[in-house]
Amino acid sequence: MKDDNFLKENNARHMWHPMGAPGDSLEHPPTIIKSAEGSKITDLDGAEVVDAVGGLWCVNLGYSNDVVKDAIAKQLYELPYYSAFAGTSNPTAIEASYAVREFFKDDGIGRVFFTSGGSDSVETCLRLARQYHRIKGEPTRTKFLSLKKGYHGTHFGGASVNGNNRFRIAYEPLLPGCFHMPSPYTYRNPFNETDPAVLAQLIAQAMEDEINFQGANTIAAFIMEPIQGAGGVIVPHESLMPLLREICTRHGILMISDEVITGFGRTGDWSGARHWGVKPDMMSTAKGITSGYFPVGAALMSEVVADVFENDTRGEAGIYHGYTYSAHPVGAAAVTATLSETLRLDTKTNAAARGAQLYEGALKLAEKYDIIGDVRGGHGLMTGIEIVSDKTAKTPMDLAVMKRIHKAAYDAGAMVRLGGNNVLMSPPLTISEAEIDTVLSALDAGFGAV
Ligand SMILES: Cc1ncc(COP(=O)(O)O)c(C=O)c1O
Repeated sequence: MKDDNFLKENNARHMWHPMGAPGDSLEHPPTIIKSAEGSKITDLDGAEVVDAVGGLWCVNLGYSNDVVKDAIAKQLYELPYYSAFAGTSNPTAIEASYAVREFFKDDGIGRVFFTSGGSDSVETCLRLARQYHRIKGEPTRTKFLSLKKGYHGTHFGGASVNGNNRFRIAYEPLLPGCFHMPSPYTYRNPFNETDPAVLAQLIAQAMEDEINFQGANTIAAFIMEPIQGAGGVIVPHESLMPLLREICTRHGILMISDEVITGFGRTGDWSGARHWGVKPDMMSTAKGITSGYFPVGAALMSEVVADVFENDTRGEAGIYHGYTYSAHPVGAAAVTATLSETLRLDTKTNAAARGAQLYEGALKLAEKYDIIGDVRGGHGLMTGIEIVSDKTAKTPMDLAVMKRIHKAAYDAGAMVRLGGNNVLMSPPLTISEAEIDTVLSALDAGFGAV
């Protein structure tokens, strides 16, 4: 390993970072994280802070789970790689697919298609949704519906159903045939509607209207996050997902629940769809599936969807899609170990309790600081705090001030994440009560520094 100054100086000279301008990274060297333990990370200068980001909404088990680490290490010596393209398989992948299917049995999941991450899982769901209709003899169903403010990764398909223009504009034109409904964002929406139940009804009406306009027989699928994460932790009214589920069913449109963040306990339930009492047709997952220890995702199919593919009589069911690292044996070993640890530790229960603590603490901070425009969360360990420079006009705080908040919070003991003018938090699901207190006092210091 090179010395510390070498690392700081060289970072952006050779490496481009996702989600940032290369010039900015050259000018402002990033915080370099060199080690981690439990829910804490340590930077190159030796500062140790609570990681309220959970890596990137993914290190659900914290950084010290030796069961998962040992499973990965062992598998590297047994079989570090073999292809799972049709014709060959490997024992850990078979085991992992069983574990994932069991984990999501109550969601109606019947089959597992492994990928290398969340964007891959979304892409897989979108493609297989089109193919599903083709197999059923409805090849005109090719369009996709989604919600504004949603984040579905950065492949062209996922970016096309994304609802934040930051991820779209530079890469347009995107996939044709993608249409967006309003987000369940009570703080800002085109109806000026602050009642979440009424807003849910309005979104459902907008969806019906769009389906009638497009023609139901042209629409393949609707994709949504049960709780919108990267878009600012936008929690819908409990009626929204069931309402949209009913509309999808009535019009023969597949519902894809994008569970890349909400899967595996983050909402206080094992899946976000289950949190709202909904059974989707497909689920895209990643992140918590290995607690971030190995890059794995999975696209999950309901029994009904599986049935259509497996009983195809038209010769249309060949899945000519997939990745070199689909069902990677080392990733698969990580999956089985992570799911077994997730269940053993019952992380969803701690996520619900610590999530309530973080949300209530953030609400208290909102009483103290006028710059806090909106606090969102209260459903597991996902909390968003929207910062404004003028509370009446709801003017989004500018980035320079957001960065000041971020740095002051870090100096006071917590890493948080900025998403535009939102402070976003998604710590490990194993985080302790005392560590959440540290996050709250660090936020207090952050907001106090404005
Ligand atoms: C809901 C959702 N879908 C998809 C993705 C993309 O996942 P990945 O970054 O692993 O490709 C993310 C990433 O944060 C996400 O939050």
